Amino acid sequence: MKKLVINGGIALNGSVGLQGSKNSSLPILAAAAAVNGISIIHNCPDLSDVSAAIKILEHIGCRVKREGGTVIVDATGACRCDISETLMREMRSSIVFLGALLARFGKASMTPPGGCEIGLRPIDLHLSSLRSMGVEILEKGGILDCSAANRIKGCNISLAFPSVGATENIMLASLGADGETVITNAAREPEIKDLADFLIKCGARISGAGQSVIRIEGRCSANIIEHTVIPDRIVASTFMAAAACAGGKISVKNVNREHLIPVVHAFEVSGCEMEFKADELIFEAPERIRRVRYIRTMPYPGFPTDSQAVVMAMLTKSRGTSIINENIFENRFRHVPELIKMGADIRVENNSVAVIEGVNRLHAARVTACDLRGGCALAVAALGAEGITFVDGIHHIDRGCESIEKDLALLGADIKRV
Ligand code: EPZ
Repeated sequence: MKKLVINGGIALNGSVGLQGSKNSSLPILAAAAAVNGISIIHNCPDLSDVSAAIKILEHIGCRVKREGGTVIVDATGACRCDISETLMREMRSSIVFLGALLARFGKASMTPPGGCEIGLRPIDLHLSSLRSMGVEILEKGGILDCSAANRIKGCNISLAFPSVGATENIMLASLGADGETVITNAAREPEIKDLADFLIKCGARISGAGQSVIRIEGRCSANIIEHTVIPDRIVASTFMAAAACAGGKISVKNVNREHLIPVVHAFEVSGCEMEFKADELIFEAPERIRRVRYIRTMPYPGFPTDSQAVVMAMLTKSRGTSIINENIFENRFRHVPELIKMGADIRVENNSVAVIEGVNRLHAARVTACDLRGGCALAVAALGAEGITFVDGIHHIDRGCESIEKDLALLGADIKRV
């Protein structure tokens, strides 16, 4: 199995370009299946999760090709609306194809995505919302059989929780719905706005994307759509945490400043200095960062749960005690035992609160990634640890980072993939 070998304790200094957003490109690739035409998707990151989405598109009959950072989907030949269990296993967020296939074909069948490393990941909000749009969903023998005998009906949906995936599935299904769909308590993540921008290019009329109430008049009239995916705000926070942990001064290009506002405050409190020049972030860390008294993960525009692990990693070396309250997923502290192997002092209470006592130094260790963002956290800590750390399980990291070792090396890290 491949691993990262990181020689830590070296301050970072360098410049890196930010990849396109994994969590924006996935629903947009699903949306391409709903279009009886061609979608040209720029800044689409080359990730294993994106490859899994492309496999699903090809399985249903689309022709897909990649030209550098651009993925071109010709969905005119799409003819299947079933997604096999193996394809669903590869990536749990394949559930977002459900709405797209219903919009295109009026039916879809797939296995429920099932839980993953960070939690149970139920889809009750997805299913109840689609049922209220007139979709009949039978769950038998581990298969979700969905069909909208008559057309999907636009309706008012109020989400019990601002679920990103459920919001995306409703938006995608509404593309093939009669009448207006209104989503109340919709997710407000930037990836929702990006998906809406893509769907508007398909012909839909959408207002309120990025706010809590989204109105959608579904229509799919265009047959050639060109779109550029937004930058990955979570990978940006990973680079920022790396510099905060190892020390030094870095530049991150292609950032969207607005998307980083929910994390900037924590980095400022920790003593890091940030300057935004157009789409470039100049980030400088102090010799040793200060603690951040209290971080609680919340739906956007709150502190993002996906940045929790990497910020915890940097705080292991801070001056003082920090508390992180993980409110979104029930099992998102799996990086803690691995950070403790490197000398971190972290105490977890009922799997939702972590108390981090900053230590003077971390030391190298052999650690294993258990999930994508937890794996990035181990790389961040290794950069700030003295000695050579081995990080196993890096296939998790490859799900969301195009090339973590290349990007960190551009920032001055001594890191190799072996
Ligand atoms: C998306 O997951 C992201 N994934 C996640 O990023 C991100 O952490 C999450 O949104 C929150 O921002 C993609 O976009 C591919 P949710 P999603 O539905 O849609 C509960 C990463 O590392 N819930 O907003 O699955 C759920 O259990 C990944 O890039 C229900 O109870 O997130 C969780 O506790 C990890 N019922 C909470 O809501 C439902 O029907 C948030 O889930 C749906 C969700």
